[in-house]
Amino acid sequence: MEKPHIVICDGFDKTLFEELKNISEFNVHPTAKNTQEQIQNLLPTMTAAVIRSATTVDTNFLEQAPNLKYVIRAGEGTDNIDKASCQQKGVKVSNTPGANNNSAAEHAIALMFTVLRKTAYAHQSMMASRWEKSKFTGVELSNKKIGVVGFGRIGNIVAKRLAGFEPEVLFFDPFINESDIPYAKKAETLEEIFSSCDIVTIHVPLVEQTRNLITKDLLEKMPAHAILVNASRGGILNEQDLYDTLKEKKIRGAALDVFANEPLEENSPLRELDNLVLTPHLGASTEEAQVRVGEMVIHQLKEFFINNNLLNEVKV
Ligand code: MLT
Repeated sequence: MEKPHIVICDGFDKTLFEELKNISEFNVHPTAKNTQEQIQNLLPTMTAAVIRSATTVDTNFLEQAPNLKYVIRAGEGTDNIDKASCQQKGVKVSNTPGANNNSAAEHAIALMFTVLRKTAYAHQSMMASRWEKSKFTGVELSNKKIGVVGFGRIGNIVAKRLAGFEPEVLFFDPFINESDIPYAKKAETLEEIFSSCDIVTIHVPLVEQTRNLITKDLLEKMPAHAILVNASRGGILNEQDLYDTLKEKKIRGAALDVFANEPLEENSPLRELDNLVLTPHLGASTEEAQVRVGEMVIHQLKEFFINNNLLNEVKV
């Protein structure tokens, strides 16, 4: 039997390729970061695709990859995979649950600090040879009321890691009733979170029920001193509504790591705001997370192709 052709799409730590190519049962094809042309050329022979968030597995992708058997999303969210079409074509899908959660949680907390202490703007100012000490007075994180929208693995880690800052945590999650964290209490509605918290952080997957979940109605309920962080998925938050809220200075500030369209358009109006911090989908981009994700990808590929065992399947 021909060896499976495993294509590593998207940007990965190079050790993933090094380790995979030592497995004699596999043919492994690395691609340069985000090189659509290279991926395109490999589609006809591809048996497995290892992807992050930059590759979309849609009907067009699937039609050009008639030999595809397996897609591994090296990460958590699978919104960039058309799972129904995969199922129809007999292509199995899995992800690497948990592997990058700590990094995603830490990035959300880092963004909170960046907004509260204005460090990104202070850095820009220093790099422009200025010394504007009085312009960058910030706000502490300690003892704040923090609203966590989505209290799954990542939301939970955010709440736990914040313990030293003695917060009050209010979470909203229709699937979780109680928390084992003494300072985290369940909110009955999203409105309760947005109207009463000093910091709101979003940690829900992008599915039909969460698309456009956060719009003007909720943003307008936030107190003027509040901040918002989204390091989960674009599309959950209405970007135009956030733009209007920030432009009119209705809240203190916000930070976004994820966008409805990625990469964010060069001329996006979001880039003009002076109370918004932007990062290019970096939640999972740490050395540690990429090592953990890589180990799971290798294990899952071996199990699938050598032991005929599908791990961490993601269903429609
Ligand atoms: C995830 O869903 O886990 C992240 O999007 C991972 C990534 O950046 O690839």
